[in-house]
Amino acid sequence: MRSAAIEAINVSKNYGVTQALKSANFKAESGQVTALFGENGAGKSTLMKILAGIERPTSGEIKVFGEKVEIYSPIDAQSLGITIIHQELSLCPNLSVRDNIFMGRENSKLGFMNYTHEEEVTRRVLAQLEEVIDPETRVENLRLGLQQIVEIARALTINSKVLIMDEPTSALSSTEVAVLFKIILELKEKGVAIIYISHHLEEALEISDHAIVLRDGQVVAEADVADIDLEWVVSNMLGRTFKEQAHKNSGRTKGRNILEIKNARILERGIATSKLYAVEDFSLTVKAGEIVSIYGLMGAGRTELMEALAGRDDFAHGELLLDGIDVKHLSVQNRIKAGMGLVPEDRQRDGLIQQMSVGSNLSLASYMSHIKCGLVNRSTEKTKIEEAIKNVRVKTSGRDMPIESLSGGNQQKVVLGRMLLTDPKILLLDEPTRGIDVGAKGEIFDLLRERAEQGLAILFVTSEISEAINWSDRIVVMSRGHVVGIYKPSDVTREEIMSIAESTKEEGARV
Ligand SMILES: Nc1ncnc2c1ncn2[C@@H]1O[C@H](COP(=O)(O)OP(=O)(O)OP(=O)(O)O)[C@@H](O)[C@H]1O
Ligand SMILES: [Mg+2]
Repeated sequence: MRSAAIEAINVSKNYGVTQALKSANFKAESGQVTALFGENGAGKSTLMKILAGIERPTSGEIKVFGEKVEIYSPIDAQSLGITIIHQELSLCPNLSVRDNIFMGRENSKLGFMNYTHEEEVTRRVLAQLEEVIDPETRVENLRLGLQQIVEIARALTINSKVLIMDEPTSALSSTEVAVLFKIILELKEKGVAIIYISHHLEEALEISDHAIVLRDGQVVAEADVADIDLEWVVSNMLGRTFKEQAHKNSGRTKGRNILEIKNARILERGIATSKLYAVEDFSLTVKAGEIVSIYGLMGAGRTELMEALAGRDDFAHGELLLDGIDVKHLSVQNRIKAGMGLVPEDRQRDGLIQQMSVGSNLSLASYMSHIKCGLVNRSTEKTKIEEAIKNVRVKTSGRDMPIESLSGGNQQKVVLGRMLLTDPKILLLDEPTRGIDVGAKGEIFDLLRERAEQGLAILFVTSEISEAINWSDRIVVMSRGHVVGIYKPSDVTREEIMSIAESTKEEGARV
């Protein structure tokens, strides 16, 4: 029998008291896509980091094409033909796209950098990904999805035998996902072994040939994708059967107007002079106790709207009232103080401080409220932090653990928990469930619904229609900067929302 391209045998990994992997067995074959499923904190990224030479196993062995190997560093992994696309992007924000793609393997001849060659390769790989990005652009100026594309592009410029993709699509649009899938199929044809991790379960099933499920650090199930379905994946991931909750209108009483956006017009990023608007003539009111979702395709203006509401971008025109008070000219910090809770799309950029502990990250935004007469009330702070860890169900061995020690999904829960601690009047969430597993998604929305019942107003942006339908009282559909419809979830179907989102003129009913 042909040997697997890569194999982990009885691999365990302990981080102090945390057993991230417990004697896990995993393998991926050449010319196949192997999907690795598991809840947040199941050990997926840890296993992949071991295969990519970023972490060392506590015990167990790795074989590459049947031969036992020791992988001490990413360079070792690379020389064995193993490349990883990281879940938490590993780019240098202040460097150009080209420099990021060639970082660590600059092309020099007689001591001179060969920029022309690097630029050419960069252009070629970006064209393959069907993206128009100038190789000279600094990565920090790109939206999160494009940063993810750069991370993917970097991996594609390396000739790999094993390509690990840890949540490669969490910030990509559906068109971008389609392009990536086309490339994956080409790589498969060439005999590359691809390992694919995603919480978009249906998407992962669509592209993969083989499925392996990790639960609590152990492999609990394995099968050919042709023999399984979504339910198989979910029940093995969670260790129980699970049904997505159908819409239940809780009949919450809606209170006063908390957020009023009137005729907002927001300029396209970075082209302030050309008068291109990312959002035009946008009006919306969110009441206390109400949950409103915004759905739209990439380029619809959702993120620009959220950034402007948060105070990171300006309103070129229009009004913004928070509980009746004009907040249009307030800074981000002052908006938070006035009662806005902001959960950004990019938790690496402005969500979390990587060098700090879970506890400090949680209390960061609400710090001021623990200060009395200039002194921090440590015990109130501690109680609040413990409460938040429990509320948003962060999987960690303690509040003093560094935030980097949390799995991707659990870091996202900390961003959410932190904003809830500030006791806001309205929560603004941009893709709140990015990287969050199928079980925890429901828990997080349950928590949001509980808070709405206590009078919190909630506005969230999502690219998953089922989230909009299942969890909001009203769905605002945006297309190319305009509102094209506002619906009650009970009055609209998935298909209708999808087709409206692609339209350009106002078609939908307003409720
Ligand atoms: N450097 C570290 N120090 C301590 N614990 C860690 C460290 N890295 C990971 N862990 C722990 O190991 C466990 C597995 O984490 P891992 O990142 O592998 O999960 P995951 O399956 O990738 O989850 P997600 O879907 O959220 O990305 C978690 O409990 C996590 O807190
Ligand atoms: Mg992970």
